Amino acid sequence: MKRVLITAGPTREAIDTVRYISNRSSGKMGYAIAEAAIEQGWKVTLISGPTNLPTPHGVTRIDVDSAAAMATEVYRYAPEADFIVMAAAVADYRPVQTFSGKIKKNVTSFLLELEPTEDILATLGKNKRPNQILLGFAAETSQLIEHATKKLKRKNLDWIAANDVSRSDRGFDVDTNEITLIPRHGAPVHIPNDYKLAVARRIIAAIQ
Ligand code: PMT
Repeated sequence: MKRVLITAGPTREAIDTVRYISNRSSGKMGYAIAEAAIEQGWKVTLISGPTNLPTPHGVTRIDVDSAAAMATEVYRYAPEADFIVMAAAVADYRPVQTFSGKIKKNVTSFLLELEPTEDILATLGKNKRPNQILLGFAAETSQLIEHATKKLKRKNLDWIAANDVSRSDRGFDVDTNEITLIPRHGAPVHIPNDYKLAVARRIIAAIQ
């Protein structure tokens, strides 16, 4: 039985005990891919940032909050995975310092210093096992194919799903998506706008 590791949803990077930096990912795309993989009879582990979605039947789900926590769980399960699909919108930056308690509103402005998070997908690309298939997403608002192709090469991936997130009928926090699947070798495959489960089924068919 093929084993697939999927990430979904946003991460939260704590500013203080009650505040965080995050993004608009709902988790719908990653959860749809998990469902499509279960339909194939695959063993699915889903590492999920905070979402309101139910766990698809048969999926082993591990909940995380920050990029660092997601990295820990991904690295734990990656060695045994035949396929890895990174649909999560992992934060690129996090506060250098997390304040304990709630920061008081007693100053008119303050600067929040940020530092880069670890690029989980790039680390997976460096340590890829022979025969392990690595698929990343590229969420772009301009020069979709050019930027996605650069990420495919820089992160040593087998596939990248180029996702235009500048329109309201696709990408973050909606039920539909449209992507172009770019392989490391060969011609790109365009998957037209459809419900995320339909798009997910085509992604799974491609990596199979
Ligand atoms: O969750 P939904 O509301 O359904 O929305 C779906 C989606 C738009 C979030 C999804 O389709 C998508 O595009 N996911 C990737 C979002 C993203 O973070 O893209 P990116 O271009 O910034 O990152 C490129 C790749 O590197 C991604 O696979 C990402 O998971 C990975 N990454 C990024 C940063 C980081 N520190 N570590 C990573 O592994």
